[in-house]
Amino acid sequence: MGKPRVGIVGSGTVAQALGAGFAKKGWEVVVGTRDPGKLAGWKATAGPGVRIGSFQEAAKFGSIVVLAVKGTVAEQALQAAGIDHLKGKTVLDACNPIADAAPEDGVLRYVTGPNESLMEKLQKLAPEARLVKAFSCIGSHFMVDPKFPGGKPTMFICGDDANSKKEAAAVCEEFGFEVSDMGTAKAARAIEPLAMLWCIPGIRENSWTHAFKLLQA
Ligand SMILES: NC(=O)c1ccc[n+]([C@@H]2O[C@H](COP(=O)([O-])OP(=O)(O)OC[C@H]3O[C@@H](n4cnc5c(N)ncnc54)[C@H](OP(=O)(O)O)[C@@H]3O)[C@@H](O)[C@H]2O)c1
Repeated sequence: MGKPRVGIVGSGTVAQALGAGFAKKGWEVVVGTRDPGKLAGWKATAGPGVRIGSFQEAAKFGSIVVLAVKGTVAEQALQAAGIDHLKGKTVLDACNPIADAAPEDGVLRYVTGPNESLMEKLQKLAPEARLVKAFSCIGSHFMVDPKFPGGKPTMFICGDDANSKKEAAAVCEEFGFEVSDMGTAKAARAIEPLAMLWCIPGIRENSWTHAFKLLQA
């Protein structure tokens, strides 16, 4: 059997952290961007398992695809990646619908309201893709093999396809998280705002070294 293949649509800190993480764990990786030149320096550090391509090349390449782009353009980026390339694939959606307007008292503004979510919009746009919310409320520095004194952080996931959630959960566990499945895509309405909460100590006090853990009795 060949190595597992992941295509990452996006080139920012999340794409770079996850790209390097997948490569470290033996996956073949294509990172997609509109501007491949800007990743030359990063690629040199990320190892031989990583190639740089377009959004389309990344989407086509991966048996799993990660979407890690600016939330306000995520629908555009998904379209640019080619909805057809995502048919039947698990798409890990790390995006948050953060508005361009400045945070208020450390609280990010979102472009979505409480009874909707970015992931539901993306799922509607690509009905044959199998979106799973993941890696959306943990800082990029802690996405791969996080070490916290309290043990493994929790990765909250959700999505409409049970098999894709299993696939996503396996990735999250491989990356050092315990997984808590919150149900269907509608649960993204609750998971996406966790990133607002996660960012408050960062924006207010420049403290970014925390993660969520669900404690169960
Ligand atoms: N930063 C974190 O620690 C963190 C943690 C959890 C979740 N997230 C979420 O993960 C996502 C990625 O975050 P990030 O900080 O890595 O990067 P980002 O700066 O939010 O997004 C960068 C990506 O967005 C793409 N992009 C920007 N404008 C675009 C446009 N007009 N059309 C198409 N694509 C466009 C860029 O494309 P090019 O490659 O072509 O430049 C790039 O790939 C965000 O939704 C963020 O909320 C971030």
